Amino acid sequence: MNVLGVETSCDETSVSIVRDGNVVLANEVLSQIDIHKVYGGVVPEIASREHIKGITYVFDQAMKKANLNFEDIDLIAVTKGPGLIGSLLIGINAAKVISLNYGIPIIGVHHISGHIYANYIEQGMEFPILALVVSGGHTELILMKEHYDFTKLGETQDDAVGEAYDKIARVLGLEYPGGPVVDRLAGGGEDNLDFPRPMINSNDFNFSFSGLKSHVINTHHNMKQRNEKINIDDFCASFQEAVTDVLVKKTIQAKNKYKVKQVIVAGGVAANSGLRKKMKAKITDIPVYFPKMQYCTDNAAMIAAAGYFQYKKNGESDDLYINGYSRLDLE
Ligand code: KG4
Ligand code: ZN
Repeated sequence: MNVLGVETSCDETSVSIVRDGNVVLANEVLSQIDIHKVYGGVVPEIASREHIKGITYVFDQAMKKANLNFEDIDLIAVTKGPGLIGSLLIGINAAKVISLNYGIPIIGVHHISGHIYANYIEQGMEFPILALVVSGGHTELILMKEHYDFTKLGETQDDAVGEAYDKIARVLGLEYPGGPVVDRLAGGGEDNLDFPRPMINSNDFNFSFSGLKSHVINTHHNMKQRNEKINIDDFCASFQEAVTDVLVKKTIQAKNKYKVKQVIVAGGVAANSGLRKKMKAKITDIPVYFPKMQYCTDNAAMIAAAGYFQYKKNGESDDLYINGYSRLDLE
């Protein structure tokens, strides 16, 4: 079954073709990062316009790369939310046009289910599975008892991890998106600033990163006012250690409680080298999976993979009234 995936929820225009949920025939991603960089973050109106400019080109490139025609496509899977509404609608409408023209069934896919299924491109699943979803908009622990069955165990009460990375990077004078830069600089620094580990001992699976973020920003501000020497690498290392300590500890607690067979990490922050290293070092009794680097940040291959399993589970497609949603519950 050839699934055409379409993802335009934020600032990446992406189209892909994935066969049977895990063989990627094409995964084209047109990133807008350089355009939004000058503003220090994604500007929604600009993102929508860039999607409009790029989408037909990305469709063409993906079909060429896969060496297929639209007649060879069995299902279209498009991100319906959550995300920037203007951006989502570009992908959804492009997908509808192909669906209507070629009589291909279409389904709307939850963006986070895409991030989760990114782990199973080229590897197998064994349930129950615990997924730690960490991105620019999400920080959640999710239990999956079977395909396309999601139970949220806990989530951030304020900032998402990626958001905290991007905000502290901005204060430290680093470029957008901050996550990858902080990660890189953390490699050369020391965890010597004694940052707090918020909610690390709470008896639930919730998180909080806004207090830690403020603590980092205030420490930086105070040192600057006192004319103290600031080592940016140490700030990055101390922040990264604090964040990953909390994420790993809560994941281990949930893993033990729900006796899962696999732990997976999903979303843009799954690219983080500190998180990858710590999670793999601390969990040795069951497999821990991270998506391949190219499937960590937003891409359409993960949407096609998730769409395949969603369609297989209930055999239902959507109609052409399918809409986009800025907020959307995974459960
Ligand atoms: O999943 P994603 O591409 O978009 C959302 O759905 O939000 O995630 C983007 C987020 C950004 O906040 C970015 O800074 C963060 O993922 N990120 C990282 C790394 N690479 C991307 N955060 C920490 N370390 C990284 N290596
Ligand atoms: Zn994402």
